Amino acid sequence: MPTVPSANLADHDWWRRAVVYQVYPRSFHDANGDGTGDLRGISDALGYLARLGVDAVWISPWYPSPMVDGGYDVADYCDIDPSLGTLDDAAELVNEAHGLGLRVMVDLVPNHCSDQHPLFQQALAAGPGSPERELFVFRDGLGPDGSQPPTNWGSLFGGSMWQRVTEPDGRPGQWYCHMFAPEQPDWNWASPRVAQLFDQVLRFWFDRGVDGFRIDVADSMALDQSLPDTELDPATGFGSWRKDAGAPFWDQPGVEQIHRRWRQIADSYADSFLGPRVFVAEAHLEPVQRQATYVAEGRLHTTFNFDHLWCEWSAASQRHMITRTLAAHAEVGAPATWVIGNHDVTRPVSRYGKPETGWRFDADGRVGEARFSEDFRRLATDVELGRRRARAAALLMLALPGVAYIYQGEELGLPEVEDLPAEVLQDPIWERSGHTEKGRDGCRVPLPWSGDEPPYGFGPGGSVPWLPQPDSWAELSVAAQTGVPGSHLELYRKALAERHANPALRGTDLTWDHTDPEVLSFRRGGRVRCLVNFGSQPVPLPEGTVLLASADVGPTVPPDTAVWLTT
Ligand code: NOJ
Repeated sequence: MPTVPSANLADHDWWRRAVVYQVYPRSFHDANGDGTGDLRGISDALGYLARLGVDAVWISPWYPSPMVDGGYDVADYCDIDPSLGTLDDAAELVNEAHGLGLRVMVDLVPNHCSDQHPLFQQALAAGPGSPERELFVFRDGLGPDGSQPPTNWGSLFGGSMWQRVTEPDGRPGQWYCHMFAPEQPDWNWASPRVAQLFDQVLRFWFDRGVDGFRIDVADSMALDQSLPDTELDPATGFGSWRKDAGAPFWDQPGVEQIHRRWRQIADSYADSFLGPRVFVAEAHLEPVQRQATYVAEGRLHTTFNFDHLWCEWSAASQRHMITRTLAAHAEVGAPATWVIGNHDVTRPVSRYGKPETGWRFDADGRVGEARFSEDFRRLATDVELGRRRARAAALLMLALPGVAYIYQGEELGLPEVEDLPAEVLQDPIWERSGHTEKGRDGCRVPLPWSGDEPPYGFGPGGSVPWLPQPDSWAELSVAAQTGVPGSHLELYRKALAERHANPALRGTDLTWDHTDPEVLSFRRGGRVRCLVNFGSQPVPLPEGTVLLASADVGPTVPPDTAVWLTT
């Protein structure tokens, strides 16, 4: 039954200040009991999301996929993976979400597809020099027998970025480029047919009521066609893929044209009830001014704030990062975004509880080396400290102007599952790294909804989730936290309700207060003050009525605590 769209959807500027909830479909809610989350499971839980107080849902890939990379290996861009449901289930989900006033964004994966995509299979069968091969990045190998890859590039998942194929006549043949796993061949965006194919994909979903797309690796589609080698990374023995090493497959000039083409398609829906459709780019570029070029007029709407995602837990770094983010976005008239977790990184409750919590920032940007998840995963975790900081980090994020992203389970204070046994790991990084990097499964463990033992209401009793849930998760379930004053979930609910109801939190302004160097304090709309104590000593609670606090406050605000006050 189609649901009547909620009147909330009349706001076509929603994307400038929304709170968006990321659903990783395999791990959210399993309606059919096969151990994997599904679309009916998501539909059943939309009421929970509406009550939580978010404005939109972003669903990670739901397309048919061999699931080599959790759905980021797409075999058909215009259908739903049978393990997740059907196109009818997707239509119902979108309708029901709209009925509750929730926007729906899905994932566009334009850099690569699955090696099972029919067009890639046709390219393999058609042989070198064929029009079919032009859709992908095929090259002859180097050396007299072509047995050396065309460049020294290393894949982001480990090993070479090139895979040699066996030609239809049975001989070893050309190589194709894959930025990620070999099962994820890169599209050749130098071919106009690839651009046309994605135009159709956008329209297919926009016509079905999807409000926007998160664009996977939005800075990678164009290649420097001269294919230069990159600086050798001694740790891998391959050419570096690190952006700071100037690699020829990131942020090349052709990327802008692709974004502008998509923007025109999204804008062509301006007269529809849902309004123009929107994009958020997954692209980490430094410095932030460069990142902001992605959201300049006529290009994309928003872009994920990876500086925020990786920023260490310190007043100085957070303040520099926030100031720089806001200035760079104000310059191009785009809203900033804020994000502390997603399906690729260590959950904030665990990361903020480590001896090193992220990257340091000063007034000129990031200081020192850009370290990634695996470097942090190896450090010991103090979960209680991390949870306290994650609560404060949530209040800080939700007090900032712009768009905030919540990764599923963040509102429950779930930690990273750091002790998954090797035999259950599914992230391709585990295999490709020769079992040296555990990868991202620890933040993808299925959510606990209710009950005292696995599957904790993720699926019906007796079902076995695709990744094992810890025995300690009963107290973190939605049911266990609902209505419990001070629980992580109730803190999020209250913060979201206040953010919606309080006009002071709706504008684009932010004014810093002068404070102790270990404290961040700023005002919004001249009426709400957010203060975060990053230091190791309590600080005096300023005057005003406390609206919300991440921990008990009295005459003082304890360490690792955030408070919202009226001014
Ligand atoms: C970024 C996605 O967030 C990640 O999960 C995926 O593995 C890569 N892009 C490749 O699509």
